[in-house]
Amino acid sequence: QIASLEQVDQTYIMVKPDSVQRGLVGEIISRFEKKGFKLTGLKLFQCSKELAEEHYKDLKGKSFFPKLIDYITSGPVVCMAWEGVGIVASARKLIGATDPLQAEPGTIRGDLAVQTGRNIVHGSDSPENGKREIALWFNEAELCQWNPAQAPWLR
Ligand code: TYD
Repeated sequence: QIASLEQVDQTYIMVKPDSVQRGLVGEIISRFEKKGFKLTGLKLFQCSKELAEEHYKDLKGKSFFPKLIDYITSGPVVCMAWEGVGIVASARKLIGATDPLQAEPGTIRGDLAVQTGRNIVHGSDSPENGKREIALWFNEAELCQWNPAQAPWLR
């Protein structure tokens, strides 16, 4: 009811290679599931240098850019598309500050990471970038539109 009156946004969340290697995939997915957002896409994926550079194209020219690309391509990532009212800002609150040492306890980075260069999870910074990044990382056929409230066992 309430959601139908408000804008539903999409965000691209990515579990970065270090958290896949550390066995934190379930923990990170669980934070978004428990919050109540809706998962519309999910895959384990080894990305190319070209895709990583396109994803982070706004940061091209920054001194840390080459290291960032090496990091993102260093092993498989878990790509996720999530949907909900206010999801972009809320997901960034759940994720916490870019520098994990500054991130509040209770946030994903605040609880689970210590280095900016290994900050374990990505979240889109605007609804426009949410759409752009989901289109970049997923094919249309990999995304599912579904209504959790229509599950018969919930009635
Ligand atoms: P940014 O988009 O500024 O942060 P966020 O991921 O919180 O939206 O930067 C993208 C990634 O680049 C960031 O998650 C980690 C890396 N990065 C560095 O390695 N060093 C830095 O000084 C910054 C600002 C970012």
